[in-house]
Amino acid sequence: MQSSFDIVHLFNISTIKLFFLPHQNTMRNITEDNLVDAVLERLNCDSERDHEILSKFIKHIHAFVKDLEPTEEEWSKAINFLTRTGQACNDKRQEFILLSDVLGVSMLVDAINHRNKKDVTETTVTGPFHTAAMNFEMGANIARGDEGKRGEHTIVRGKILDENNQPVSNATIDVWQSDDIGSYDIQDTIQPEMNLRGVFKTDETGTFWFKTIKPAAYSVPTDGPVGELLRAAGRQPMRPAHIHFWIKADGFQQLITHLFVAGDEHLDSDAVFGVKESLILDFKLVDSKEDADKWQVKSPFYEVVYNFKLAKEVA
Ligand code: BEZ
Ligand code: FE
Repeated sequence: MQSSFDIVHLFNISTIKLFFLPHQNTMRNITEDNLVDAVLERLNCDSERDHEILSKFIKHIHAFVKDLEPTEEEWSKAINFLTRTGQACNDKRQEFILLSDVLGVSMLVDAINHRNKKDVTETTVTGPFHTAAMNFEMGANIARGDEGKRGEHTIVRGKILDENNQPVSNATIDVWQSDDIGSYDIQDTIQPEMNLRGVFKTDETGTFWFKTIKPAAYSVPTDGPVGELLRAAGRQPMRPAHIHFWIKADGFQQLITHLFVAGDEHLDSDAVFGVKESLILDFKLVDSKEDADKWQVKSPFYEVVYNFKLAKEVA
């Protein structure tokens, strides 16, 4: 039997603990089962959205770890992978964007943010290779290196329109693409800086046209942590040939998209899940001296024609 002294003693100790150390009491002896709640209880965000973001992240990552039950070695390998992903980033390389792209997360964010859009050009990934480019007069050639001689000459032309097919004037069209062997200028020390990229502005007719070379399919960079991931997953790294467009105009939502080359063998296996049927275009071979003279290119040349349609800005 417990003596009355013991009962009084126990009562006093626990009363003192509860009174003076309530926080420690709830935050000790945390278990696998209540750890996630303990972390969530500590949240004290100023903004509701920050609270939502952090609490959902904490819940999902705890659920993932509980489901996976990683070994300590596996968890430190994961941390090492993310560390190296950050270390691979610099002003010419964005390994985290690439990671988001190959995991399909970039296209998921894209889909969520462009739901229910009808009668406007579809969007796709930005990718890691957009950088500042020079302003050009309409009709300029953006191929400024050897590709200008050896590549397949191409005219890209069309209009920037609104949802009612009216021309959009003063739209900025930022374009960038790979060369004829699938390299971007920033990956390649041989290409001149800002090769195969340029910025154009439309006049009141909304018309654009520029000269370039036909882009080639290419592998996403595989010499870093994302390459390791693709190999571990048994996945191929190729993207089908395309030209990137980033179009901005006052009163309209910006449009980030590509035009893909029809017939490319990688259209159904894009490493970043970015292909949409409506963005696959015929690069038509034109063998006419008269047309070549009109566009001031050599015959034969490729021609791709597309009218971009912008969505109105939402209030
Ligand atoms: C690109 O199209 O430039 C690209 C997109 C995603 C990952 C790598 C490259
Ligand atoms: Fe690209």
